[in-house]
Amino acid sequence: MSDLTKAVIPAAGLGTRFLPATKAIPKEMLPVVDRPAIQYVVEEAVAAGLDDVLMVTGRNKGALEDHFDRQWELEQALEAKGDTHRLERVRHSAVLANVHYVRQGDPRGLGHAVLCAEQHVGDEPFAVLLGDDLIDARDTLLQQMIAVQRERGGSVVALMEVPPEQTNMYGCAAIDESGSEGDVVKVTGLVEKPEPADAPSNLAIIGRYVLDPSVFAVLHDTPPGRGNEIQLTDALMTLAGRPVEQGGTVWGVVFRGRRYDTGDRLDYLKAVVRLGQEHEEFGADFAAWLKEHVGS
Ligand code: UTP
Repeated sequence: MSDLTKAVIPAAGLGTRFLPATKAIPKEMLPVVDRPAIQYVVEEAVAAGLDDVLMVTGRNKGALEDHFDRQWELEQALEAKGDTHRLERVRHSAVLANVHYVRQGDPRGLGHAVLCAEQHVGDEPFAVLLGDDLIDARDTLLQQMIAVQRERGGSVVALMEVPPEQTNMYGCAAIDESGSEGDVVKVTGLVEKPEPADAPSNLAIIGRYVLDPSVFAVLHDTPPGRGNEIQLTDALMTLAGRPVEQGGTVWGVVFRGRRYDTGDRLDYLKAVVRLGQEHEEFGADFAAWLKEHVGS
């Protein structure tokens, strides 16, 4: 059985879709109800048994490090007030996982961000969770992907059906039906952001990956692709064409649960409304308010 304990969270992107909100703060720090988006992602990694987390950050991302650190002054003030409930919530993010950081000096693409993790990860399979992509905590996608990697080897991507006209927003997969079993499909090809007419399917890659470490060697040899960025999709395409004994083969897990791209303004709002309605303290009140005011 492979030793899979590490999660890499790329969070060095510029967040241009959410400007000007992301001019001075990272998009991963935008609050979703009462926590920054990135905390949900770290909680998901920990729930899947990955408590060694490497965050790939860049300029303007200092708030991310502060969030997963202790905040003594705040803790002392809350302690002095006897506010144990809030104290617990403030401490939680600092003790949640073993968080490490590496900086991606130049945001040269997701593939380049993953390459920045090479030294920390070493020669083990590892998970990649995009810092702005939220998967509902009740949907155990990452656990399923890890199980597939352990059973079959190779690398695993998460796929989601999207409306055909949206294929140009994602990497899309070509699959081999004969190698597929239930929600697990064999990926034979990948195309980054194809126009609908050129898309091999409407199965889009979403922000969860479990990768064989041979991806690093492939990324070193992957030239900049679409948008002049080093694309993880291009490296996965190379791996899909190699046998499993050489670190190749790519599986896809088709996800049918709840997912939000918090780097997109509309999806972000949907995440806040949906998760807000389910909040244990005020969800019922918020849902009642929504019912009364929406559509009126
Ligand atoms: P996005 O495609 O969302 O790009 O990156 P972006 O630059 O962050 O945001 P927009 O499109 O300008 O609004 C997908 C993921 O890859 C990370 C991002 O932080 C995000 O988690 N990423 C992207 C990096 O870490 N480095 C890069 O060079 C590019």
